[in-house]
Amino acid sequence: MNTTYINETNTIRSQKMLNISARVWFTIAVLGQWIFAFYVTTFYGTAAIEGNYQKWNEVLPHGYTEGATISNVVVGIHLLFAVIIIIGGPLQFIDKIRMRARSFHRWNGKIYLVTTFIAGFSGIYMILSKGSVTGWIGDISVSFNGILMMIFAVFAWRTALQKNFVSHNRWVLRLFLAVNGVWFFRIGLMLWLFIHGKPVGFDPETFRGPFITFLGFGQYLIPLGILEVYLKVKDRKIPLEQWSMTMVLFISIIATGIGVFAATVGMWLPRL
Ligand code: HEM
Repeated sequence: MNTTYINETNTIRSQKMLNISARVWFTIAVLGQWIFAFYVTTFYGTAAIEGNYQKWNEVLPHGYTEGATISNVVVGIHLLFAVIIIIGGPLQFIDKIRMRARSFHRWNGKIYLVTTFIAGFSGIYMILSKGSVTGWIGDISVSFNGILMMIFAVFAWRTALQKNFVSHNRWVLRLFLAVNGVWFFRIGLMLWLFIHGKPVGFDPETFRGPFITFLGFGQYLIPLGILEVYLKVKDRKIPLEQWSMTMVLFISIIATGIGVFAATVGMWLPRL
């Protein structure tokens, strides 16, 4: 067996394993996001249908304020469009839908991009009018998340119009991860609590502390950082790098799986 053959086989194998691990991570993440969407629809939607808006405040301290119509409508819009974006986004990445239902892909894509702006602006309005539960550093980190996702949406849109699909693919991946920053925050927090069995690095009463600050920025910077390395490694096709990246994704699969499980069982289901 000559060395060229062995090298080629190794490259093909490492490439295959990298693709498989990326797909497995994506599948687990989408399942976790749809569980989150199910919780948001059931918890906030049922309360709204029953006219029991005060129930929102069991989770969002200033979610509903008697008489503050604009503010209440903005919170409602934020939650409604959060569900639309969480459910609709992953459908864009499914090859069969993209190939066979092109018109659906185009429309769903447009809805996704517009929704990004609505969720982003309503979120920033909520920060400016009421602030977040994590304090001013949390206000800054989540606002930056909002700005970042709107910038990514502009680039995703532009590259689609230019029919530059290589670049478009990259921008939609960045957009997808930035849009899911709030979901990463929740599974990250629950993973941390699962590992330690108690609050560490933050005060559970005030919801402030070094870990919350770290997670506030990490909720989008960590997934985006991993994505950039993944894209580079995929391009360069060097087996050692691809095996190392597969390991990183393998660890991400375990972390995401535990985070989703802990958030579902420990945070979302008990509220329903
Ligand atoms: C598109 C992505 C986003 C989604 C899917 C989303 C989803 C949600 C959901 C489901 C809640 C209710 C909290 C819960 O029940 O766990 C919420 C609350 C909130 N969101 Fe968003 N959101 C997004 C982006 C943003 C952005 C960019 C900002 C700010 C710039 C923001 C600011 C807020 C605020 C202030 C709250 C109230 C909770 C708190 O005090 O932290 N959101 N969001």
